[in-house]
Amino acid sequence: MHTTDNTRQAQAVRLDAVSKIYGRGDNEVAALRDFTMSFATGTFTAVMGPSGSGKSTFLHCAAGLVRPTSGTVTVGGTDLAGLDDVRLTRMRRDRIGFIFQSFNLLPSLTVRQNILLPLQLAGARPDKSLVQNVVRRVGLAERLDHLPSQLSGGQQQRVA
Ligand SMILES: Nc1ncnc2c1ncn2[C@@H]1O[C@H](COP(=O)(O)OP(=O)(O)OP(=O)(O)O)[C@@H](O)[C@H]1O
Ligand SMILES: [Mg+2]
Repeated sequence: MHTTDNTRQAQAVRLDAVSKIYGRGDNEVAALRDFTMSFATGTFTAVMGPSGSGKSTFLHCAAGLVRPTSGTVTVGGTDLAGLDDVRLTRMRRDRIGFIFQSFNLLPSLTVRQNILLPLQLAGARPDKSLVQNVVRRVGLAERLDHLPSQLSGGQQQRVA
């Protein structure tokens, strides 16, 4: 396929010939084999497939949480292989939103603190009215001082 720099810009995420092999020898599992796919900016994609078919592995590679065994992952034009762990962490914090199946909220922090934590770590000052607006839209305005353990599953998901 021929792509120009222009179309490359419009790709949020791109995987080129990505393989991820877990284990060795008899235990070797190819969770992804030579997987190529690109995802255009501003689009939604649902990833479906049988249990164990590699969906989580794909998402982890695409988000820079797992380094592929081979192949290239590009996020917003940046080749993740070129980033050391510090830069990779910064890239994830600044550019990727991730709702884990188990949410991964910090249990001792309130809803407000969980929501603002990534901004705080980035040294950014939250735009108060934007935060208020988002929190209201997802129905969490009355829960800001609660702990994750005091929320329903759906509420925890929206905090994440
Ligand atoms: N850390 C790991 N070590 C070894 N094998 C792994 C590891 N993680 C995943 N696998 C294997 O890789 C394959 C793909 O796993 P993956 O978690 O990506 O599947 P999935 O499509 O997300 O499945 P599910 O729908 O059950 O969540 C599976 O065969 C799994 O056993
Ligand atoms: Mg999975």
